Amino acid sequence: MYQPVVVLLTLATLALGSYSAAVVGPIDFYKLYDNPEAHLALKDKATTADRTALHGYPSEHHHIPTKDGYVLGVFRIPYSHKLQNQNAKRPIVFLQHGLGSCSDAWILQGPNDSLPYMLADAGYDVWMGNARGTSYSRNHTKLSPDHPTFWQFSWHEIAIYDITAIIDYALNTENGKGQDAIHYVGHSQGTTVFFALMSWLPEYNDKIKTAHLFAPVAVMKNLSSRLVRSVGPYLGHKNAYSTLFGSQEFLPHNEFVMALFFNICQPDFMLRPVCEGAVEKLYAGGRVNMSAMPEAMATHPAGCSTDQMLHYLQEQQSGYFRQFDHGTKKNLELYGSEDPPEYPVEQIKSLVHLWYAESDDLAAVEDVEAIAERLPNKVMHFMEDPEWNHGDFALNREVREYVNEPVIAIMEEYELKNSGS
Ligand SMILES: *[C@@H]1O[C@H](CO)[C@@H](O)[C@H](O)[C@H]1NC(C)=O
Ligand SMILES: *[C@@H]1O[C@H](CO)[C@@H](O)[C@H](O)[C@H]1NC(C)=O
Ligand SMILES: *[C@@H]1O[C@H](CO)[C@@H](O)[C@H](O)[C@H]1NC(C)=O
Ligand SMILES: *[C@@H]1O[C@H](CO)[C@@H](O)[C@H](O)[C@H]1NC(C)=O
Repeated sequence: MYQPVVVLLTLATLALGSYSAAVVGPIDFYKLYDNPEAHLALKDKATTADRTALHGYPSEHHHIPTKDGYVLGVFRIPYSHKLQNQNAKRPIVFLQHGLGSCSDAWILQGPNDSLPYMLADAGYDVWMGNARGTSYSRNHTKLSPDHPTFWQFSWHEIAIYDITAIIDYALNTENGKGQDAIHYVGHSQGTTVFFALMSWLPEYNDKIKTAHLFAPVAVMKNLSSRLVRSVGPYLGHKNAYSTLFGSQEFLPHNEFVMALFFNICQPDFMLRPVCEGAVEKLYAGGRVNMSAMPEAMATHPAGCSTDQMLHYLQEQQSGYFRQFDHGTKKNLELYGSEDPPEYPVEQIKSLVHLWYAESDDLAAVEDVEAIAERLPNKVMHFMEDPEWNHGDFALNREVREYVNEPVIAIMEEYELKNSGS
């Protein structure tokens, strides 16, 4: 009895990733949750578009259908009210969030530091995706999210159906006419879906101008996260545990889940060390922008399917970057082989910028370099700060200087070079 409970709760923490683990912080968690105003934020159904509009930016909420029936809530800052550039041709940028996260993760640090606002003010048409199953994408033309069938997907389906749908939709808008490619930015799972899509449907490489992958996750051989390593042997294989755990909604954003985290962080609870470990690392050295925390808590965790986690745990166990393992029998039916097929990342011809870091416990330097070796067209950006970790790409107070400004400079250079032609 005891072991599965521990495994489940450990996974709960894992799902949040090291950055949104801030939600369970022992210090700030109590402070914020004792604060009635912070608690109101839970009931606040403000969307990403509402939040960007509050800062004066033009804001749109699109409902984008996928080929397999899901309806994705996708947000857009079409131009900058400061530039009044609505009639100019604006290059399209598409930002895709990580596991357990959603479009709100990109805007937590406000207009002066967050990438979407900075991009809009640099003249771009900015799109923020939401994978199927997250708070803004619990919608389908036929299936109800209350039925398990809705949750039968992993990040392979997010890559093949969701990312393609959003890219094509953005290129089909009025501003997209005459443009045939976009800039892509992904964090964590947002990089996994890029690798999967661009290798599985290589024709999509033609639709990419530059890609910026923050904390890239594909091969997970050297991943150091103790949580993932301890859960992997149970759930990273087809067995009774993983079958019971599979194809379910995991950690949606609601009050039950918030209460669960509150309990995990209770001082006398056996899992308190898990809670403290994650949070200690996060707050070390005042690196994280604490003013962004209330918004982070109001929007995270944003939900996912347990199959997305199982798929990652399979990668960690097998050492391969390959499709979902359904067990020998079903693999033979689906793939025609006992093992799932590997993603042919050599097919990724588009220009890929890899942003990676020494202290990232989910994207190990060796693993990023192993994938990079197989990519024909890449640029490596190793973060100079040795303490830079997985979550720093979202919440470090210096993202503007060390990530956002250089990323925009690379896009600008591309646009300049390719504008005359
Ligand atoms: C931190 O986040 C807050 C809230 O979004 C924002 O106002 C501020 O500019 C951000 N950056 C820094 C360095 O404080
Ligand atoms: C915005 O960021 C710049 C560059 O980091 C900084 O110099 C400036 O003080 C910030 N402005 C505000 C209003 O926070
Ligand atoms: C679900 O999708 C439909 C379009 O098929 C849209 O009209 C509706 O507003 C969406 N519902 C939610 C809750 O997003
Ligand atoms: C990383 O993986 C390689 C190959 O599997 C192994 O030889 C090496 O010891 C690993 N390094 C770490 C730090 O785990």
